[in-house]
Amino acid sequence: MNPKIMILNGPNLNLLGVRQPHIYGYDTLADIEKRLRARARSHELAIDMRQSNHEGELVTWIQEARTTCAGIIINPAAYTHTSVAILDALLACEFPVIELHLSNPHKREEFRHRSFVTFAAKGVIAGFGAHGYELALDAMAQLIADQRTPAKPAQKAKTMRAAK
Ligand code: DQA
Repeated sequence: MNPKIMILNGPNLNLLGVRQPHIYGYDTLADIEKRLRARARSHELAIDMRQSNHEGELVTWIQEARTTCAGIIINPAAYTHTSVAILDALLACEFPVIELHLSNPHKREEFRHRSFVTFAAKGVIAGFGAHGYELALDAMAQLIADQRTPAKPAQKAKTMRAAK
């Protein structure tokens, strides 16, 4: 069975496509999910994509992912900047977590510059609009592949020399 990646979306992301499209674009969450499914197949991954406007529901889904998934990609939306509960749930996960934003919060209001979720994230993808979801899935696929076949030190040195 292909490893499953949970892709979580926080509050107001159900309105993608109509909500401030000059910031978040015209793609709906359903458009994004369709493209992600195709991308996941090419990486031999499965995805479980969900959206909630409720902090506790997101926490429950993260806890569920701990035992059913190989990684989480999360756009926590406004909870990015407020939720210690989501951070704590993610810190309880032993697999890779990728934080994702459509916009680049660092170019926006100051209150968006702080992310609690970042403390649990392997990396952050932000500012690439809907395409960021595919970039995040590519990054997750690589992390999972690396876990399966960790490069031996000798091999690593050889690859690095070849790349120069
Ligand atoms: C967002 C950025 C957040 O600051 C904001 O509250 C969102 C969406 C993004 O994807 O750019 O709702 O996470």
